[in-house]
Amino acid sequence: MNGLRDLVEASLKEIVPADWRVPARLNEAVRYSLDAGGKRLRPILALAAAESVTGEEVVRQKAVPFATAIEMIHTYSLIHDDLPAMDNDDYRRGRLTNHKVYGEAMAILAGDGLLTHAFYVASQAAAQGVPADRVLSVVSELARYAGLPGMVGGQTDDMLGEQGITSMEELENIHLHKTSDLIACSLRAGGHAAQATPGQLAALELFGRNIGLAFQIQDDILDVVGDETKLGKPLKSDEKQGKVTYPYLIGLDASRERVRSLTEEAVEAIRTAGLARSDLLTDIANVMMKRDH
Ligand code: IPE
Ligand code: IPE
Ligand code: MG
Ligand code: MG
Ligand code: MG
Repeated sequence: MNGLRDLVEASLKEIVPADWRVPARLNEAVRYSLDAGGKRLRPILALAAAESVTGEEVVRQKAVPFATAIEMIHTYSLIHDDLPAMDNDDYRRGRLTNHKVYGEAMAILAGDGLLTHAFYVASQAAAQGVPADRVLSVVSELARYAGLPGMVGGQTDDMLGEQGITSMEELENIHLHKTSDLIACSLRAGGHAAQATPGQLAALELFGRNIGLAFQIQDDILDVVGDETKLGKPLKSDEKQGKVTYPYLIGLDASRERVRSLTEEAVEAIRTAGLARSDLLTDIANVMMKRDH
């Protein structure tokens, strides 16, 4: 995973063409959140998906623009998720949240900028030799999975959810959209970069849906029993906001069991997908299941 992460970090440093004039304060606010680190899980999955399809390391480079765009969309979603009008959190990735440093207006604009510019970055995949029809597919999928029926839709239902009212079925649906969709999109984007077949794309998506759900359940668990210094964000944010979560509805033990079984289902989807190699994604899924941050 470290080699893949290095590719992502290098690409994230050079997202804006040198001759574009961007207001210094906006650029600073964008860089503040992007450079704070984070696990880079979604872009790593995109690169690993590409390599899994062909079995060749060289294909990674083709997926880099998509991977970078997805991390930018993810980072925007965190900046906005932390705003006072949403989860109202003060720490993220081990630093004060964006709005705590730059103010709410600049945090909103930094998020807007990251989201919009992500589409520019994704379009640069053509210059890496990804065929235009695949670039177009990824651009449409990014808009859909991150957008109204996807992550934004999931965040909306998350905001509207209420303890005592939201059912297990509704909660699963919230998690599938607010978190699984962008993760599934990352895997599909990597697949497209490597010219995956429709069957391979479907298997990558199913893998992403399952590890995405497991990932959000683990996030809910860590919000209760995690270590704040490792997480880089405050514990008990969900309780403070009265959120409906897996531990709230079914308890910690049943939540942990669900993370385990979803990871197993994800690994199974990949095993039968007809990929050149399945070990990369299987290893990442198993590391994620045991994560403490
Ligand atoms: C946090 O995502 C938001 C969720 C969808 C759970 P990550 O846990 O991937 O956050 P970073 O990118 O590592 O900071
Ligand atoms: C956020 O879920 C999912 C996003 C799309 C940003 P959370 O609100 O649980 O994420 P954290 O715990 O703040 O990272
Ligand atoms: Mg939230
Ligand atoms: Mg939050
Ligand atoms: Mg959380």
